Amino acid sequence: MTSPIPVNQPLLDGKERQYLNECIDSGWISSEGPFVKQFEEKFAARVSRKHGIAVSNGSVALDAAVVALGIKPGDEVILPTFTIISCAAAIVRAGAIPVVVDCDTDTWNMDVNLLESKITPKTKAIMVVHIYGLPVDIEPILQLAQKYDLRIIEDAAEMHGQTYKGQPCGSFGDISTFSFYPNKHITTGEGGMLLTDDDTLAERCRSLRNLCFQPKKRFVHEELGWNLRMTNLQAALGLAQLERLDEFVSRKRKMGQRYTELLADISGLELPVPRTEYAENIYWVYGVVLRDDVSFDAEEAMQCLAKYKIGTRPFFWCMHEQPVFRKMGLFDGVSCPVGEKIARRGFYIPSGLALTDDQIEQVADYVHDIFVGS
Ligand SMILES: Cc1ncc(COP(=O)(O)O)c(C=O)c1O
Repeated sequence: MTSPIPVNQPLLDGKERQYLNECIDSGWISSEGPFVKQFEEKFAARVSRKHGIAVSNGSVALDAAVVALGIKPGDEVILPTFTIISCAAAIVRAGAIPVVVDCDTDTWNMDVNLLESKITPKTKAIMVVHIYGLPVDIEPILQLAQKYDLRIIEDAAEMHGQTYKGQPCGSFGDISTFSFYPNKHITTGEGGMLLTDDDTLAERCRSLRNLCFQPKKRFVHEELGWNLRMTNLQAALGLAQLERLDEFVSRKRKMGQRYTELLADISGLELPVPRTEYAENIYWVYGVVLRDDVSFDAEEAMQCLAKYKIGTRPFFWCMHEQPVFRKMGLFDGVSCPVGEKIARRGFYIPSGLALTDDQIEQVADYVHDIFVGS
C-alpha cells in the first residue's frame, strides 16, 4: 500500500513565501495592501481585460456579476445544468429564474445547439460556464447574445491560462469571473476575480464588493452591497502563482496526457477529449466517465479507490436535480439526459499540481484494478 494520494495539492514553491513575508513585514494584510491592485492589473492584462476586481471567492464573483448586470426578479438567465451550485445560486438569489441547458456528450460543456430554443422574451442573460478543462464553443453563443440582445456572464473559474481560438477564456463575457480555490491552476487559498472592459460595470462591481460605500458620504448607502474584499495576503499568493501560470498549464497538460496514455486501454472508461477545434484541454481536473456497459457506478468506483487511499471527487450534480431548487418549485418536468448520466457515471482522479509522475502511475494502476473482473 502506498501513501495516500490526495485529490488535489497545490504547488506553492515560487515567490509565495517572499511576498507573504512582505505583507507581514509591512503590516499590509487587509484589502488595502498594494498586492491587491497589482494582482488585479496583472491578472486582467493576462486575460486581455481592462478591469480586474479581486473578491473573496469565485461564488461571490458570480453573485456580484448578476447584480451588476441589473438582473432582476422575474428575468430568466440560461446556464448549463452541469455546473457548480454557485452559478444557479447567484441567479436565484437575485430573484431571477435559472433556465438550464443539457451538455454535450464529448466535452461535458453546455450543448450550444440546444440554447436558442430556451430563449424567451424574459431572457436577460446567458451564463456561460467552461467545464473541467475545455472551453464552451462560445462563438455561436456570442452571436445569439447579439441577435437577442442578451448579456453574457462568462464563468471561467476553471480556465486559467486557457484560450478559445487563441483568445483568452475570460475575455468574452460582459463580465467574466474566476476562482482561485486551491484546486485551480493558480490559487490564493480562497479568492476570485471579476473582469470586464466596461468602466461603468467595473465601478459597479467595485462598489458591490465594498458594501456600496459612497465616495463622498461613506456611511450613507443608496444600495446594498457585500464585503467581498480580497486581502493583501491572498493577493500576494495570487501574484506569485500568476508568475508561473504558463508553467502550470504546461504541467497540467502533461499530466493529462500521461493519464490518457496510461488509461487508454480501459474500454469501460470514457476519458477527457484532448482537444477540440478551438482549444487544447488544460485538464483543470482529470475526469473519467464509466461507459454504459460497466456494471458499477461512479460512487462504487470512488469507494474502491478510497480503499487504496486515492482521493477522488464525484462530478457535479445537475442543477435541475438539486433538492434545494426542486423544493422551490424550480425545474418542474425538466430532463437533461446527458447531464444526468455523467453526474452518476463520472468522477475525477488526483489532478493537483503537486502530483508527481510516480503518483500518476500509481493512480492509473489502481484505476486498472477496479476493472479487473468487472
Ligand atoms: C465553474 C465554477 N464556478 C464557480 C466556482 C466557485 O468558486 P469558489 O470555490 O472560489 O467559490 C467553481 C469552483 O470550483 C467552479 O468550478
